[in-house]
Amino acid sequence: TESVHPHQQASNLWTSKMAFILAAAGSAVGLGNIWKFPYITGENGGGAFVLVYLACIFLIGVPVLIAEIMLGRRGGQSPIATMRTLTKAEGTSKGWRIIGWNGVVASFLVLSFYAVIGGWALVYIGKAAIGMFVGADAEAIGGQFNNLLANPWELLLWHTVFMAIVVFIVGRGIRSGLEKAVNMLMPLLFLLLIVMVFYAMGSGSFGRAVSFMFSPDFSRLTTEGVLVALGHAAFTLSIGIGVLMAYGSYLPKNINIAKTAMTIAVLDTSVALLAGLAIFPLVFANGLEAGAGPGLIFVTLPLAFGQMGGGIVFGTIFFALLLVAAITSAISMLEPVVEWLEEHKGVTRVKSAVAGGFAVWFIGIGTVLSFNLWGDVHPLGFIGFFEGKTVFDLLDFLVSNLMMPLGGLAIALFAGWIIRREGLAKDIGLEGGAFKTFMVVLKFITPAGIAVVFLYNLI
Ligand code: PHE
Ligand code: NA
Repeated sequence: TESVHPHQQASNLWTSKMAFILAAAGSAVGLGNIWKFPYITGENGGGAFVLVYLACIFLIGVPVLIAEIMLGRRGGQSPIATMRTLTKAEGTSKGWRIIGWNGVVASFLVLSFYAVIGGWALVYIGKAAIGMFVGADAEAIGGQFNNLLANPWELLLWHTVFMAIVVFIVGRGIRSGLEKAVNMLMPLLFLLLIVMVFYAMGSGSFGRAVSFMFSPDFSRLTTEGVLVALGHAAFTLSIGIGVLMAYGSYLPKNINIAKTAMTIAVLDTSVALLAGLAIFPLVFANGLEAGAGPGLIFVTLPLAFGQMGGGIVFGTIFFALLLVAAITSAISMLEPVVEWLEEHKGVTRVKSAVAGGFAVWFIGIGTVLSFNLWGDVHPLGFIGFFEGKTVFDLLDFLVSNLMMPLGGLAIALFAGWIIRREGLAKDIGLEGGAFKTFMVVLKFITPAGIAVVFLYNLI
C-alpha cells in the first residue's frame, strides 16, 4: 500500500548504483578537498590533524550521510516535500520540516559564493596555460591574485560563465544532465589527480610531503585544530544541506545505502589525501610555506609551477582538476532548489534551472563585490560578533558554521530518535550488531560531536 513518490518512479531513478556513487562523490569532492583540506592540514601541522579528521569523517560524517540519503529515498521528492511527507508519516511535529527548508536555502546560498570561487579556477586555467607564472616572483604572483579580486567585472564574468555551465547541466535533468556530466567528469577528475601526484613524485620532496601528512606529531595539534577537522568533515561530505537528500530521492530501493555511503566517504577522503600528496611536494620542493592559508593554491602553488619544469602543462592540469571538482559539486547545490521549484504547477525542469540559477547568480554578485567595491561593507558589523565580516564572510559563516552543522544535527536526531525503528535496518542496509552500533553512534556520538563544534564556532 506504499505510494510511490515522484522521483521514485522507475523512469526517474539513477540508471545504476555507479551513477549515484559518481554523482554523490562528485558532490562531495570539491573545492573542500583540493583547496581547503590541504591548507587547513598545512595550518594545523599535518599528521595528527589528518588522523583526527579521519575519525570525524567516519564517526560523525558517515552516519549523517547514511541518514540523509535514507530520508531522501523514503520521501522521493525535493527536501522540502520529502520532510513534509516524512513528518506526516511519522505523525510527528511539523518543526522537523525545517530540515527541508534549511537544505534548500543553504544549498542556494552556498552555491552563490561557491560559483564565484569556481570562476577563479576558470581564470587560473587561463593564467597557467599562457605561462603567466613562469619565472614570476612571490610579489608578482600575489599581485596577480589581488588584481583579480580587485576587479569586479572580471570576477562577475567568470562567475557568470561558471553558473551558465551549472544551469546547462542541471536543466537537462538527472539522467541526461547530471548523470552524463559525472560519467565524464569524475573519471577525468581521477585521471588529472593521478597525473598530478606522479608529477609531484618527481619533484624530489615527495617523501617529505608523505611524512608531513602521515607522521602524527600531537604536540602540533590544538583544540582549535580538532574543531576545524570536525567542521570540515561535514563540509567535505556535503552533509546537512539537503543535497544528498535531493540525490537520494532518485536512488533505487534495492541499493544498499550503508555500503554506498562508505564508498562515497572513502572516495572523498582519498581525493583529499591525494590532493595533499599532489600539492605539498611542490610546495616543499620550492622552499615554500605549507601553512600559507587560503592562498595556498592560488599564490603558493602558482609560484611553485612558475619555477618548475613542466609548470605550464601541469599548472593547467591542476586548475582544470579544480574546475572539474567545483562543477560536480555546484550542480549538486542547484539540485534541491530546482527540485523544489519543479514541484510547482506548470514549472518545467528547464525553467526551474534557469530561474533558480539566475537567482543564485544574482545573490552571488554580493560575493563578487565583497572582494572589491564592498570590501568595507560589513552588513551586520554593528553586532560585535560580526565585526569586520563582508557579505562573503557572512554567507560563508552562515552556511558552513550554522546551517550545515545544524542541518546535520537535526538530520541525525530525526533519523536517530523520531523515525520508527521497524524496517529501518533493512532500509539502510545494515544487520544485527552493525545496525545496533550504527544507531548508538547516530543517536549519541554524532549529535554530541556536532553540538560541540557548533558551540565552539559560535564562541
Ligand atoms: N563537499 C563539497 C566540497 O568539499 C562542498 C559542498 C558543500 C558541496 C555542500 C555540496 C553541498 O567542496
Ligand atoms: Na569534499
